Amino acid sequence: MRDKRNLKVEIINNEFLTDVIDGLNQKPKTLKPKYFYDNRGAELFTEICKTPEYYPTRTEIEILKLNAKDIASEIGDNVALIEYGSGALEKIQILLNVLENPAGIIPVDISKDQLIEATAELQTMYPDLKIIPIPADFTKPISIPKLSPAPANRVAFFPGSTIGNFEPNLAISFLQGVTDTIGPGGLLLIGFDLKKQTETLVAAYDDKAGITETFNKNILHRINTELGGNFDIQSFKHIARYNEKEGRIEMHLESQTNQSVSIKNTVFQFMEKETIHTENCYKFTETDFKVLASKAGLSPVKAWNDNRRYFAVMLLRAS
Ligand code: AVI
Repeated sequence: MRDKRNLKVEIINNEFLTDVIDGLNQKPKTLKPKYFYDNRGAELFTEICKTPEYYPTRTEIEILKLNAKDIASEIGDNVALIEYGSGALEKIQILLNVLENPAGIIPVDISKDQLIEATAELQTMYPDLKIIPIPADFTKPISIPKLSPAPANRVAFFPGSTIGNFEPNLAISFLQGVTDTIGPGGLLLIGFDLKKQTETLVAAYDDKAGITETFNKNILHRINTELGGNFDIQSFKHIARYNEKEGRIEMHLESQTNQSVSIKNTVFQFMEKETIHTENCYKFTETDFKVLASKAGLSPVKAWNDNRRYFAVMLLRAS
């Protein structure tokens, strides 16, 4: 008899396979960006954040650090913090260092190994802090446990401009889910990337060291190793471009030749220059974002920026 763990891996791989087959049957061909993030993908993303071109991470950290006390006074005492896509749990520490008596934190992340490792490390730094890690895909509905004793408020923390990776209608339904989770009067502290010069945006997604290229191609690597695909990864080129009309960076993988690729028993034809669209990263003005958030029942409380106005951190309240 198969054990439960093998069955779970099989179910996850079936979903991966179905999504890949569906996506490559679309015109234009697409793949879901969540599949960048196996453990290697999560590590590559951490490396992207350190490249000189990728300004969002360091800019957001700077905003959080410079305004930590102000943010903490807006958030209040004894709150439960729920972080979506918690990664290395670095940014939440900036809040933990200034928040009065936090009731506990609930980090949610799809990358289980990183979540376990980051939680263990955080626990050694804050031994008295209640931490309840949830390994889950937060693009799907998840139930968040209630802390006991009940905290004064629930505060969702969604840094990193990950909201920009959702299509606008999905961003609204995700935010609606957050509103339901935090309840009336609950808060959301969110980071999002602002519209700016095209060259600055494109460079952030096409770093000279080629780390974003490797990250983008990791999705093909995963298809080869986990789904038995035979992509010739070298024959696909990493492309990052700004779509002005949609207000988004698009990442693609462009086939350099006419070729066919098989995954299990399905064969896909690629024309030379045909692309697989792998990710959208939406950029906002503060007004764009307020309009989006209002559709999910969230009203702005306060926003903080860096001097260049590259990035925004906004606190919103659920009505
Ligand atoms: C995770 N997310 C916010 C990143 C972004 O900037 O949209 C993902 C990324 N893709 C390429 N570089 C970074």
